[in-house]
Order: sequence, then structure tokens, then C-alpha cells
Amino acid sequence: MIAKIADVEKNFKSDLKKVSQPNELEEIRIKYLSRKGLLTQLFEEFKSLPREEKHKYGQSINELKELLLKSYDEIKSKLESSQAKNETVIDYTLPERKKQIGSKHILIQTLDEIKSIFKGIGFSVYEGPELESDYNNFEALNFPGDHPARDMQDTFFINESFLLRTHTSPVQIRVMQQLKPPIRVIVPGKVYRNEAISAKSYCLFHQVEGLYVDTDVTFTELKGTLVSFAKQLYGSDLKYRFRASFFPFTEPSAEMDIWWQPAGKEGRWLEILGCGMVDPNVLKNVGIDPEKYTGYAFGMGVERMALRKYGIDDIRIFFDNDKRFLTQF
Ligand code: DAH
Repeated sequence: MIAKIADVEKNFKSDLKKVSQPNELEEIRIKYLSRKGLLTQLFEEFKSLPREEKHKYGQSINELKELLLKSYDEIKSKLESSQAKNETVIDYTLPERKKQIGSKHILIQTLDEIKSIFKGIGFSVYEGPELESDYNNFEALNFPGDHPARDMQDTFFINESFLLRTHTSPVQIRVMQQLKPPIRVIVPGKVYRNEAISAKSYCLFHQVEGLYVDTDVTFTELKGTLVSFAKQLYGSDLKYRFRASFFPFTEPSAEMDIWWQPAGKEGRWLEILGCGMVDPNVLKNVGIDPEKYTGYAFGMGVERMALRKYGIDDIRIFFDNDKRFLTQF
């Protein structure tokens, strides 16, 4: 019996020396320490010994058990800690992870371009609130009380006298109430309309309003300014036209179209803005003397400008926040 105990100890020690991987250690556990392992077998044998014999070997076999368990635990924790070290090793040869940096939305880029062109010809930038009074949005701009644009269908009313502005024109009123002529401003901003959403219209879009009030402002100047602006944005070979139109707050009024030839499709005229000479009634509403001053105004759709500039055919894509679209610009 004593020889068997010594054998197990010797073999165990030499087996343990060869261990370098967890699976090898596991094999040793099964060989010596499991329910059918060598140590258990020794104990079985020990149990069947007569009493006086038991006395002889009890201590040795218990010492062997302690030794085996202790050595096994030591090697196990060594293996675990060296594994943990390996896991936090830094691989300096890996390529860097790209940082994702946001970029300006295509509409903001277009707005920036529009602003910088107008700043270059002496306009300053002014802003007004998106929640606007019925008075500024309609009444002061000479919309008769029963004008169809006041219909609940087109407008998001907050209550009887406040609404989400349907255009940037009410800021004309705010500017003229605060500044004295000469006034030369553009007003970029969001506007809202209760429209059925389609490829062509959305309930929210952007406009840039323009207003110039001084003595002797003429329609020719208005046209000259808009043509020079559009050519700076789209190139000097731009094809454009002005059509007579109607707005309650301008007289005479016009709309400007530019020619658009999308790749592989038929060319067509695209309306980009409304404009005209400020109606004398509007000047009167803000206390500016229409006998002394004249003015011109215009309002352009930023989405329209961007559609043409970047060859996009669906206005909804500006508001989808689809990274595949946004990261192209
Ligand atoms: N506010 C008009 C609209 O949203 C556009 C417009 C037309 C603005 C003529 C003007 C203007 O300043 O003079 O349809």
C-alpha cells in the first residue's frame, strides 16, 4: 500500500510538470481527482483494509490527498492569471479605429451658400420665430380675411391667433417694425404647412426671405439681384425665366423658374422663388411712408434649390436622417 501511495505521488508530480494549458490540467484532474480517479481508488482500497492496517496508512493517504489538491489549485490559478494577462495585451499593429465625425446637413450647406452670396452683396441675416401671430403671418401682409391661405387646411394653428408660420414673410413685418430704411436683409428659417406629404411637398421646409427697402428701389434691381444670385449658385450658363404672378403683399409680383435637366430625364422648369415690389399697404402697416420709400421682397424654397443643385428627386429624403444619403455630401 505504501508503495502505491508513493507511486501515485511520483506520477502526479511528473504529470503536473508537463501542464501548460487548461485542458491538460483538466486531464490530470480526471486522472487523479475525479470520482473514478486514482486517489479515489486508493481510498477504496484503504477502506477494505483491516483495522490495524488502516492505522498504518491513514496519515500517508490523507497527506497525499492534501498534496494533490493543493498542487492542483496552485497550477490552476497560475494558468488563469497568465491567461487574463494575455487577454489585455495590446496589439500595436492593429489599424486605428476611425472616429465618426458628424457633418453639416445638405440643407444647411445649401443655406450657408445662399447666405454667403447675399452677404457678399450687402444683405445682413435676420431671424424670426417659427411660432408666429396670425397678424404677422397674414393680416399685416395684406391677406384679406377670407384668403384661402388662411384655411385651416394649409396652416397649423396653435389657437385662434397663433400658428406655425407658413412662410418667412412675417419676418418682413418684424424687421420693418424694428429697423428704419435703408433695410437690406435676408431671413433664413423653417416654415410649416399642413400638406399631404409626397415627393414634392413636406409639412416642414426651409425658406430664405429677402427684403430691400429704400428710396427708389426698382423691379429691375430685384431682377438683377436674383439673376446674379442664381448664377453664382448654379453657374453663369443657367437658364431662367420670370413669370408674372400674384402675392397679396407684393405688387407687381413674379415667380422665377430655373431650367432643370436631371440626368437621363426630360428637362423642365423648376419654380424656385416668389418675388415682387412690396405692396404700399404693407409699408403703411408698419409705419413706413410708401410715398417716400419703395421696396422689393423675395422668398425662395431651400429644398427646391438643393434638389436642382444636387440632382435629388424626392424632397422627403432631406428629412429621413438616412446616413447613406447624408454621408454623400
Ligand atoms: N411667402 C411666399 C410663399 O411662401 C413667397 C414670397 C413671394 C415671398 C413673394 C416674398 C415675395 O417675399 O415677395 O409662397
